[in-house]
Amino acid sequence: MKRVLFSETGEPASVLRCVEADPPVLTKGCVQVRMLASPVNPSDLLFIRGKFGQDPALPQSPGFEGVGVVERAEAGLRGRLFSGKRVAVLNRGGGNWAEQLVVPATQVIPLSRSLSVDQAATFFVNPATAWVMTQEVLRVRAGEWLLQTAAASTLGRMIIRLGKALGFRTLNIVRRREQVSELKALGADQIIVCDPEIIEPEDLQHQVQSATGDAAIRAAVDPVGGVLTAAVIRSLDRGGRLLVYGTLGNQPISISGRTLMTSDLSVEGFWLRNYMAQQGLLFKLKLVRKITRLILDGTLQSSIADHYSLDQISEAVISAEQMPGKTILQISSEQK
Ligand SMILES: NC(=O)c1ccc[n+]([C@@H]2O[C@H](COP(=O)([O-])OP(=O)(O)OC[C@H]3O[C@@H](n4cnc5c(N)ncnc54)[C@H](OP(=O)(O)O)[C@@H]3O)[C@@H](O)[C@H]2O)c1
Repeated sequence: MKRVLFSETGEPASVLRCVEADPPVLTKGCVQVRMLASPVNPSDLLFIRGKFGQDPALPQSPGFEGVGVVERAEAGLRGRLFSGKRVAVLNRGGGNWAEQLVVPATQVIPLSRSLSVDQAATFFVNPATAWVMTQEVLRVRAGEWLLQTAAASTLGRMIIRLGKALGFRTLNIVRRREQVSELKALGADQIIVCDPEIIEPEDLQHQVQSATGDAAIRAAVDPVGGVLTAAVIRSLDRGGRLLVYGTLGNQPISISGRTLMTSDLSVEGFWLRNYMAQQGLLFKLKLVRKITRLILDGTLQSSIADHYSLDQISEAVISAEQMPGKTILQISSEQK
């Protein structure tokens, strides 16, 4: 069977290769999955570069998310229930960029057949993060403003559509002017275009005030970091909260303690994996049901840029950072 591997961390297009490997051995508590498709997410690329919050066990196969079919199981009742089912594979150790894999049965979620393979492949990470950050953690309510950076990302677009569906208003920061009309069409309330590497806090604050008509902004989400994040913090109203959920800019955030202190501001890290680990089964079941509904009605849908096979892994990882939308690794077809 085919599998993508890296033996050293580095630039994904250089260090990844597609190899022939022995099929994995099914062990107790696990299911054997034939993978159908897996997205190339920013977290996969950080992991391959050695910059994710988890060290790869070299040689390592990447791929944290994806969809597959359970072919065999050694996991009691849960395993029997999953056998033959199409499942989302949330592989915490990485390894979804392979034709076959073995994962703990607790890391798969049975999925509705109404989802297309592409939407099933991108079922959990971005949709759950969009929902949980805005509705469970920040609890942004109808009429309130949410400020977000990297708003043209797949996740940023989901947040814009969620705002439109639930009635909260989004103030969106992007770095390319050509994205403005597209995001407006999705339902973005306001858009600011700026260079995230050089924006001055006073400049952003001024643009935010004029975009919202001086309305208070108490919630923000940011996956960029660096000077942009420092400027976003200065644009928040008293009592504001900022969730940092990514490190796309790869730069530290310099924050004035006085600003935090005098305006009661808080800056928190958000990682879906840690959040989900603290939730009970009922919450998880409800979340899966909610996400399925919101993907099917288009709100939390991922737009798909292109498809590649495992053999084309170098082209796939280059495209993932150049094309708007998700690059999908198409691994096998539903019918064997
Ligand atoms: N913490 C969590 O649990 C969690 C969960 C899911 C996702 N995430 C994070 O969410 C972020 C978005 O994920 P995604 O899958 O939606 O990404 P995506 O669709 O691949 O899009 C990436 C976006 O990042 C922007 N970008 C890249 N480098 C940038 C930089 N240096 N400065 C400003 N913008 C930059 C790109 O902007 P252009 O359009 O201008 O090229 C693009 O819009 C990633 O950081 C990912 O790791 C975190």
